[in-house]
Amino acid sequence: MLAEAKPVTVPMIRAAKASGRKLTMVTAYDLASARTADAAGVDMLLVGDSVGMVVQGHKTSLPVSLGEMIYHTRCVARANPRAVIVADLPFGSYQRSPAQAIRSAVKLLQAGAAAVKLEGGVRMLPAVVACVAADIPVMGHIGLTPQSVHQLGGFKVQRNADALLADAAALQSAGVFAIVVEAVPSTLAQRVSAAVDVPTIGIGAGPHCDGQVLVWHDLLGLYGEFRPKFVKCYAELGTAAQAAIRQFRNEVESGEFPAKQHTFE
Ligand code: KIV
Repeated sequence: MLAEAKPVTVPMIRAAKASGRKLTMVTAYDLASARTADAAGVDMLLVGDSVGMVVQGHKTSLPVSLGEMIYHTRCVARANPRAVIVADLPFGSYQRSPAQAIRSAVKLLQAGAAAVKLEGGVRMLPAVVACVAADIPVMGHIGLTPQSVHQLGGFKVQRNADALLADAAALQSAGVFAIVVEAVPSTLAQRVSAAVDVPTIGIGAGPHCDGQVLVWHDLLGLYGEFRPKFVKCYAELGTAAQAAIRQFRNEVESGEFPAKQHTFE
């Protein structure tokens, strides 16, 4: 019998920084992406509100609803992954009050997530404190926080060192188990990582974070023409998929498919 892989837990993620082991997180939105990323051995699957852009075709993540995040979290949870499932609290589902944050986070945990991620540091502290006090593991997200795209004036690199360091310290004191640091110069992300004892998970934040996260579609070459500088595309699945579908079309048109072995007698 094959030994079952030991599930990754939130405390294991929290403790990884001390051992120096780098953490990996990939977004997943459905059964196939969750199974594939989990089988590849990543530590965390992020049901990201990036689903609004890479799956739903919006220009920002703002239109994504809590109901949609619950739906995608359920799809990912059905993969029964060993990786920790982290689900994003979408825009408007936690900003109103700490009570609203708890209500929304409870729904994501009931859908199968082990933890939630919410954007913002100092200004979101009451929501983080409330969730942690309600035994809901919280991952912070600072730097470029895409739900604040209009406030920030676009998807821009964030360089305010004082603000970033204050946000990271506040989140750590509020009890987050990890912090995503997005679109921050490498040296600043290094200072942030050194300043906190919870793992930092970087995206566009250089090599000094305690882990890295990439969006499924970016990592696999499935998201159109636009490639941000921080993305490394590990496979060109979009091109491969197009070639496969073109071959299918050609074979149907030529009569080559379906062949005898694809046909019931
Ligand atoms: O929604 C998302 O995919 C994210 C990552 C970019 C960290 O928040």
